[in-house]
Amino acid sequence: MDARPIGVFDSGVGGLTVLHECLVTLPHEDFVYLGDGARLPYGPRPLAEIRRFAGEIGRFLEGQGVKLVVAACNSATAAALPELQLALSVPVIGVIQPEAHAAVRATRNRRVGLLATEATVASGRYEALIHSLDAGVTVVPVACPELVPLIESDDPFGEATVEAVRKVAGPLKQAGVDTVVLGCTHYPLIRPILQRVFGREVTLIFSADETALEVSETLARKAIENDAAREGICRFLTTGDPASFLAMGSRFLQVPIAAVEQVRVADLEAVAA
Ligand code: DGL
Repeated sequence: MDARPIGVFDSGVGGLTVLHECLVTLPHEDFVYLGDGARLPYGPRPLAEIRRFAGEIGRFLEGQGVKLVVAACNSATAAALPELQLALSVPVIGVIQPEAHAAVRATRNRRVGLLATEATVASGRYEALIHSLDAGVTVVPVACPELVPLIESDDPFGEATVEAVRKVAGPLKQAGVDTVVLGCTHYPLIRPILQRVFGREVTLIFSADETALEVSETLARKAIENDAAREGICRFLTTGDPASFLAMGSRFLQVPIAAVEQVRVADLEAVAA
């Protein structure tokens, strides 16, 4: 039995969609979630900068005594997963590999679309992982800079979001994909819009449930699970504004958030220095 918490991080509140699935799968575990709201969004940033931020957060979480780190951010996973795994002494799980596996399993015509941030698309990580499983799969990536701001806006389900989804879906429909990887933590929030635009015949792949499963299997494999009879607790930290995290966070987590603690970016930088 291992009572240490699991560390989960994202550029902001998007990773709470991953935490949500972890809470469902592992209700007896404790979690520390850190959202880097002060430096959100990661998507338009250079990969090297995202890698630096992820390294700082990984070390900070390790300093909080976590037993495993989940990079619950596709851009951070794309930019930094191997470096994080090298730098930290605890296991690090990203959100891309579980989705790549699921996409290869799901596709029947071996044409897979990818919707993600500019950084994730630029990294080529999905293509590399999908091709390591099946080199014959054609991957069609589309960067979607408009979607994250729209999903975080006051009207995430409005006409502007539907229009933006239609625009990014166009090239994927044209390419005849039968499976679309939603390679960003924010997209589960607009799942009904995405499914309506793509139609029922297209399989949508989300990382959250696949990632939670991988976390659970890793804990079991390493025998570092907490007592299954207990009820876990969550701590929420942000480098941004705790009040905004609280308001926006409940939308993503779909569970009430009691308190949010502030962490300064300087504290993250100091741990990594
Ligand atoms: N969390 C980011 C991701 O999954 C989306 C938000 C951002 O651009 O920071 O790629």
